Amino acid sequence: MFFKAAFLFSLVVSSIAAPAASDTRLSKRAVLSVQNYSQFQVSSGVGGKALAEVQAKFPIDEKNLAAVAASDLAIIKAARVTAEAAETQTGGFNDAIAAAGGQKTTAGKALQVGKIKNKVLKLKLFILGLQIDQAQGGNDNSAKITAESKKLNNNIALDKAAAGQKSTPVNFQGTSKP
Ligand SMILES: *[C@@H]1O[C@H](CO)[C@@H](O)[C@H](O)[C@H]1NC(C)=O
Repeated sequence: MFFKAAFLFSLVVSSIAAPAASDTRLSKRAVLSVQNYSQFQVSSGVGGKALAEVQAKFPIDEKNLAAVAASDLAIIKAARVTAEAAETQTGGFNDAIAAAGGQKTTAGKALQVGKIKNKVLKLKLFILGLQIDQAQGGNDNSAKITAESKKLNNNIALDKAAAGQKSTPVNFQGTSKP
C-alpha cells in the first residue's frame, strides 16, 4: 500500500519536474544478454557455490522482480530450457555420466558434481521465471514455487556436500536465445 502510494507520488513529482522523462523512468532496464550454454553454465571448477555462481551469471535484482525487463525474463526462461536439455538430452550430463562408467568412476563422480550444479542452475532459473511472472502478471504461482524451491534446496545441499570437489561441465550446444 505504502509502496503503491510512494510510486504514484513519484510519478506525480516526475511529471511535474520533467514530463518528457516519464517514459524513461518507467522503462525496465535489461541486464542480461543472450549467451551460449558454455557461457552461462556453472558446472566448471568445483562444487559448493552453485547458487552464488548462478546469481553471478544472472544478476537480476531479486528484490524487485516487478522491475525485471521482459527481455531478461525471456532469456531466463530460455536458459532454463537449455539447462534442462543439458542434463537429459543427447550429449548432456546423463549421457556423459553413463559414458564415463557411472557416478562411481573418477570421471563420472566429477560429472555428477557438475550435474548437481546444473540442477541448481535449472531450478533457480525456473523459480525466478515463476516469481517474475507472479510479480508482473498477478498469477498465483506460490504452490509451484514452493514445490520447486524444495527441489532447489535439496540440490543446494548436495552441492554444498560436494564443496571443493572437482566439477566437470558438459560441452552442450544450446543458448539462452528466446
Ligand atoms: C555461440 O557459439 C556460436 C558457435 O560457436 C558462435 O558463433 C556464437 O557467436 C556464440 N554466441 C555468443 C553469444 O557468444
